[in-house]
Formats: sequence, structure tokens, C-alpha cells
Amino acid sequence: MILGPISGLDCIVFLLLLAPQLILHAGFLPTLICGLQGLPFLPSWFEDAAIQCMRYGFARIPPKIARIFFSKQVALPLLRFRMLRHGYIRSPIQWRQVKQDTFQGLWTAGDHAEDPDIVLYYVHGGGFAIGSSYFYLEALQIWFSLLKSAGFKNPAIFVLDYSLVPDESYPVQLHQALAGYYYVCSRVRNPSDICMAGDSAGATLVLSLLLHLGQNKSETMSNGSIPIKNNFKVPGMAILISPWVKLLSTRYRDTSRDYLNAASLQLYAHQYCNNKISLHDPRISPGHCKDASWWQNASPSKGLFLSYGSEEVLAPEIRDLVLFWKQSGIAVECCEEKDGIHAWPIARTFLNRTIKGRQEGIRNLVSAIRDHMCSK
Ligand SMILES: *[C@@H]1O[C@H](CO)[C@@H](O)[C@H](O)[C@H]1NC(C)=O
Ligand SMILES: *[C@@H]1O[C@H](CO)[C@@H](O)[C@H](O)[C@H]1NC(C)=O
Ligand SMILES: *[C@@H]1O[C@H](CO)[C@@H](O)[C@H](O)[C@H]1NC(C)=O
Repeated sequence: MILGPISGLDCIVFLLLLAPQLILHAGFLPTLICGLQGLPFLPSWFEDAAIQCMRYGFARIPPKIARIFFSKQVALPLLRFRMLRHGYIRSPIQWRQVKQDTFQGLWTAGDHAEDPDIVLYYVHGGGFAIGSSYFYLEALQIWFSLLKSAGFKNPAIFVLDYSLVPDESYPVQLHQALAGYYYVCSRVRNPSDICMAGDSAGATLVLSLLLHLGQNKSETMSNGSIPIKNNFKVPGMAILISPWVKLLSTRYRDTSRDYLNAASLQLYAHQYCNNKISLHDPRISPGHCKDASWWQNASPSKGLFLSYGSEEVLAPEIRDLVLFWKQSGIAVECCEEKDGIHAWPIARTFLNRTIKGRQEGIRNLVSAIRDHMCSK
């Protein structure tokens, strides 16, 4: 199921769904003040306008309020409305909530009875502070449809719903991601059928998880961190969309195009870390890992694929890590989108005005999956 672009009507429905949730969770006055402050930032042209709104939102809206925009209570009814508008009463691709003591998420598959031939294990972004599996559901439906077109018979997607900051901080999110990984492993014949993927902070978690799986087991035990279950192997592949590889860096500078800003990144990084570990520790900030053999043990068997925009705030540290990987003999393919901004393959599924344009970023990622996962 690939729906048409977001229309003006969808935006109105979004605001109608959002308003009561905001009033309920954030209170009437803060909502009103937030809304009034935002009004002058709404220019006329959609894609530009939306990026301006995102830039404003990222810098100015408190995370506790911003997270409501991306919550299940708003995202799911909006998706249902958009489906109805396109003539779908039920989604052709079914999702089920998976809820266990240690993690939760959504499992999406065409045929729930059959074993999947690939599982995309997706970890969403949002500075560890916002985002939900439901907000990504429509984009994941595009992934699903494109995986089918690429020749996978029964793809499945698992998207993790990890706890957000400041409710919980590191290493809770990593433990949940790991528990999710063990669950996904239990659903496939071989971990090499798993492709992990994430954008922004989600990609940070993917890298932390890989480093966790790849670390030297005798060291893990003596350091008292989470034990690794015996023989748990790294996944077949990992896709990193605009990964936030180093949580803190003096090289993060606001750019004229990107909607992220350095000050908010710093705030989110400190909330995630919550003084539990140094922000330069590779386990929380994977870009700090300069140990080639650790990366070699952590690398997916069929390689890494990384995508980012040349204009994004995070670009300098991403480039450095990719260079280090290449020098260390890690199999990584990298796509730097010229003039691109943060997490664009995902953001454009919401913002592009054409059906073809909104799929384009994910289409490139799926063709990388096909090339890597089917080559061996
Ligand atoms: C793992 O760590 C232990 C203790 O630090 C060391 O003796 C061993 O050689 C390491 N193994 C590998 C494969 O790096
Ligand atoms: C575990 O501790 C040892 C020694 O204290 C250190 O060298 C090593 O880097 C630590 N391992 C991880 C994964 O942090
Ligand atoms: C959408 O995607 C198309 C095709 O990639 C691109 O040419 C166009 O500039 C994009 N933007 C909008 C606003 O449609």
C-alpha cells in the first residue's frame, strides 16, 4: 500500500487530531501559546513550509510537547483517514503490536503464518525524545511494498517502540533494542536474514547494538554490562540514515538548510546519557569507537549502507566515521546526497508532493538491500 502525497485536507485532519491530544497532555494555555508563536513561521509553499516548521519545532517546542505530534494517538487516526481517502478500509499489510516485559514494537507482515525471508528491524529517530512506531507506519508500508517489488516473497518489518527521554535514559533504550533483536532473531531462520535500519538517533541505537554484539565477550563480563546471549550473531545488513554517530561534537554547526540545530542536539544527548556514562564512551556514542577489530566483529555479514545529506549538521562526524571504517576494511557503501538534509529519505515520504518523489529515498535503500542481501 503506497498512498498519495499529504494534502491540505490531511493537514487539517492532523491539526484536528493533534489539538485535543495537546490540550489533554500539555494543557490548554501552553498549547495556545505554542500555536500562536508558531503562526508567523507558516509560509505558503508546502515542502519549504514544512521544513521551516520542523526547524522551528526542533529548536523551540519542548520535547514533552513535540512528542505528542508523533504519538500513536495522532499518527494512527491520521493514517486511517488517509487510507480511507485512498479507498482502503483495511490495510492490505497487517500490523500487530508485540508487547513483552523487556520491549515493545509493531510487527508488520503480509503473511503472519509463514516465515519471513527478510526482516527489516527498524529503530526510529527523534533525538531519543520523540517519535513512535505508529508515526513511521506509513513510511514502513512504502518499504514493505518496495521490498515486495524487489523480489522478497514474505518481507516483515519490526519497528521498536523504545522508551523516550527524559522518562528513561541510557542504557534502557539499548537493552530494549537488544531484547527486540533477540525477538526478531527468534522469528527468522538465520540472523543474516535480518536487515537493521534506523534514522538519526535510531541509527545511533543500531550502531550501539552492533558494537554491543561485536564486543569482546570476556571484557563484557568483567565490565558488568549486559551479557550477550551465547552465539548471537550480528544481522545480515544495517542501513544507517543520517546516523547521529557522535552525540556531542564541537563540529556540529547549524546550517542554512538543515532543520536540526546544534543546541537541541546537545540537550537531547545529555538527557539520553543522564550522567550515567561518559558521552565519549563508544557504547553510547559509537563514533568514538576507534578500535578497528571491535568494528570488524560488530559489522553485519553483508555490509553497512549509509545515507546522509551533504548539508546536514551531523555530516562532518558521519564523514569521519565512514573514512575510519573504509581504512579499517569494514564493508560500507555510502551515499551522500548533494544539498540533502537530515533523514531526507524518511522526511520526503511525508513532504514530497508526488507519489514517485515520496518513494524515491526508500527505493534507493531497498535496492541497496536487494544488492547486499541477495548477493551471497
Ligand atoms: C578479549 O579480551 C581478553 C581480555 O582483555 C583478551 O585476553 C583476548 O585476547 C581478547 N580477545 C579478542 C578476540 O580480542
Ligand atoms: C571493559 O573494560 C576494559 C578495562 O577496564 C576496557 O579496556 C574495555 O574497553 C572495556 N570494554 C568496553 C566494551 O567498554
Ligand atoms: C519531489 O520529488 C521529485 C522527484 O524526485 C523532485 O523532482 C521534486 O523536486 C520533489 N519535491 C516536491 C516538492 O515535490
